[in-house]
Amino acid sequence: MILVTGGLGFIGAHTVVALLDKNHKVLIVDDLSNSSISVLAGIVSASGKSPVFEQFDLKNKQKTEQLFRDYTIDGIIHFAAYKAVGESTEKPLDYYENNITPLINLLLCAKEQPGHIPFIFSSSCTVYGEANTLPISENEPIKMAMSPYGNTKQIGEEIVRDATNVYANIPSISLRYFNPIGAHSSAKIGELPLGVPQNLVPFITQTAAGIRESLTVFGNDYPTHDGTCIRDYIHVEDLAQAHIAALEFIQQSNQPHFYDVFNLGTGKGQSVLDIIHAFERVSGQSLPYVIGKRRKGDVVAAYAETTKAEKMLDWKATRTIDEALYSAWKWEQQLKR
Ligand code: WQD
Repeated sequence: MILVTGGLGFIGAHTVVALLDKNHKVLIVDDLSNSSISVLAGIVSASGKSPVFEQFDLKNKQKTEQLFRDYTIDGIIHFAAYKAVGESTEKPLDYYENNITPLINLLLCAKEQPGHIPFIFSSSCTVYGEANTLPISENEPIKMAMSPYGNTKQIGEEIVRDATNVYANIPSISLRYFNPIGAHSSAKIGELPLGVPQNLVPFITQTAAGIRESLTVFGNDYPTHDGTCIRDYIHVEDLAQAHIAALEFIQQSNQPHFYDVFNLGTGKGQSVLDIIHAFERVSGQSLPYVIGKRRKGDVVAAYAETTKAEKMLDWKATRTIDEALYSAWKWEQQLKR
C-alpha cells in the first residue's frame, strides 16, 4: 500500500485520486486538523475507488509504529504539515513540532521495514526565498528561510537527505512545489481553505462567488511588467501526476541511498494581474479588486526551471492557466457555502 499522509488535504487528495486511478492501493493518514472528512467522499466520487483511511496525529510515535504493524506499506508520500506562512511567524513552535516530529517518526519506522520504502517529501519553492536567477533551477542556492514554515521545509529536506544517506532502504525525493492552483476536473475535490483564504486563487474565486467583497492586490510597485508579483501557477492535477512519476522513478531505479530534489512548476511566470485577467476571461465575469500595500515576505518573482523533472522523471505540466482557473471556478460554484 502507498501511505499518503495528509491525504485529505488539497494536494494530498488530488494525489490520492491519481494513485487510485493507476490502481495503487492507498492508505490515508490524516488528523483532520486542517482538512475535512468530506474530502474522503469526494475522493471516492472522483476516482470510483476507496482508499483506506486512518485518523490520528503522526506526532504520536506509538500510533505511527502501530500503523506499520497493521499495514504492509511499500511507499510513502508525506504531505501532512501546516502550511500558512503568516501563521508560522505567530506560532513557530507549533510549526516546528507539527512539521518535523511526524517526519522523524515516519522515517524511524520506514528504516525498520524489510523492503525498499520509496519516500516522497512535500517541499516548496519557498526554500529559495528571493532567487538570484530566474527561472529557478534546483541548483539555486537555498536562502535563509523567510518564515518558520519555510524553515520547516528546509530542515525537512535535510532530515530526509541525511536519513537516506545512512539507511539504504528509504530512497527519497523532495518535491519543491511552486504555486498549486485549480481543482479536479470532476469538481468533486478542490481547495478547501478553512477561514479567510491566504492564497490568491481561492480568494479570487470566493470574491467572484460573492463571499468576499473584493480582492486586494498586495502591491503594484514591484519591478515587473505590470508592477505585481510573478509566480509559477501549476494545476494541482499536474502536480499530482508528478508524485506518481517520482514514486515510479524510485521504484524503477531501485538505487539504495538514492536522494534528489525536483522543482515542480510550469516554467512560466504570471503576475497577479495576469491571473485576474485570465480568471475574468474563463469565468466571464469581472473581478472587483483594489490595489493595496505590499505583503510582508512576498518575493518579487518565482518561476521554475523545469528540465530536471522533465528529463529524469519524464514529467511535465501540461494543463494551462485557463484550465486551472476554470477548474477552480467550477469547484467554487459547486461548493455549498
Ligand atoms: C501569490 C501572489 C501575493 C493573495 C504561498 C506560500 C508557498 C506555497 C504557496 C505552501 C503574491 C498575491 C495573494 C491576495 C494578492 N504554500 N496575493 N492578494 O505567497 O506565492 O506562496 O503559497 O507550500 O510556500 O509561500 O502564494 O497565493 O499567497 O500569493 O495580491 O489576497 O498573489 O502578494 O504575490 P505565495 P499566494
